[in-house]
Amino acid sequence: MTHIILITGAGKGIGRAIAIAFARAGRNNPDFDPLLVLCSRNQSDLDSLSLECRAEGAITETFACDLGNIDDVRRLAAYVIGKHGTIDCLVNNAGVGRFGPLSEMTEDDFDYTMATNLKGTFFLTQALFPIMEKKRSGHIFFITSVAAEKAFRHSSVYCMSKFGQRGLVETMRLYARPCNVRITDVMPGAVCTPMWGEVDDDFKALMMMPEEIAEPIVQAYLQPGRTTVEEIVLRPTGGDLQDS
Ligand SMILES: NC(=O)c1ccc[n+]([C@@H]2O[C@H](COP(=O)([O-])OP(=O)(O)OC[C@H]3O[C@@H](n4cnc5c(N)ncnc54)[C@H](OP(=O)(O)O)[C@@H]3O)[C@@H](O)[C@H]2O)c1
Repeated sequence: MTHIILITGAGKGIGRAIAIAFARAGRNNPDFDPLLVLCSRNQSDLDSLSLECRAEGAITETFACDLGNIDDVRRLAAYVIGKHGTIDCLVNNAGVGRFGPLSEMTEDDFDYTMATNLKGTFFLTQALFPIMEKKRSGHIFFITSVAAEKAFRHSSVYCMSKFGQRGLVETMRLYARPCNVRITDVMPGAVCTPMWGEVDDDFKALMMMPEEIAEPIVQAYLQPGRTTVEEIVLRPTGGDLQDS
């Protein structure tokens, strides 16, 4: 059976690993044919990912857009609805972070972070949820963070955005449960991705790898429809990198 799966922020990092994990699950499971709609801003990232997923046997489509721009959010939702008429899984993964002491965060840092993490996530969910509600099935993943429930000194704006996403997750549960739609909040600690910039090997050794976040997401999706994995919390075994 074909599953229409939209992954935002698919070009790099955790989103890329989620796309590949879904593609591999399709190769290993005759009842699961993923059709992956891959979205992020950089088309060449999406093209190389698309090739990798197709090599695993998945069908892929790419859609380059900026989810910090409401017109792009609407174009993406209209594309999915217009082309497929349905959606089975939305992975709200696209996110940005700008980090530093409170006194150094600028209005641009604030607006840039909120546009993608909050505005884009909210309006894409708002646009696509009614399809799942109507057909009484579907699964929405929110890749939030441990920073959605724990503060970090150099992450004031990022934490605000992630705590905000968690507000949306909990609200969506109220809409989703009565219509049999599954909501999963994925809260990773530090994962070695381009979000962190260049990191040395000692620092890298303290982090998780994107594949380790992707696998439990695919497993949660493949649970029988009667069962929802509501939260996935994953931390480096040594704990969070900064604890204050
Ligand atoms: N890495 C961590 O330690 C960590 C921990 C907890 C949670 N998270 C969360 O996990 C998610 C993925 O993070 P990551 O570490 O994989 O980051 P990443 O390596 O920077 O990748 C982020 C992806 O999102 C895309 N993206 C960013 N802004 C976008 C926008 N406005 N519109 C469309 N695509 C956009 C980026 O591609 P383009 O730049 O080409 O658009 C990229 O493909 C984020 O929500 C992040 O907050 C990360």
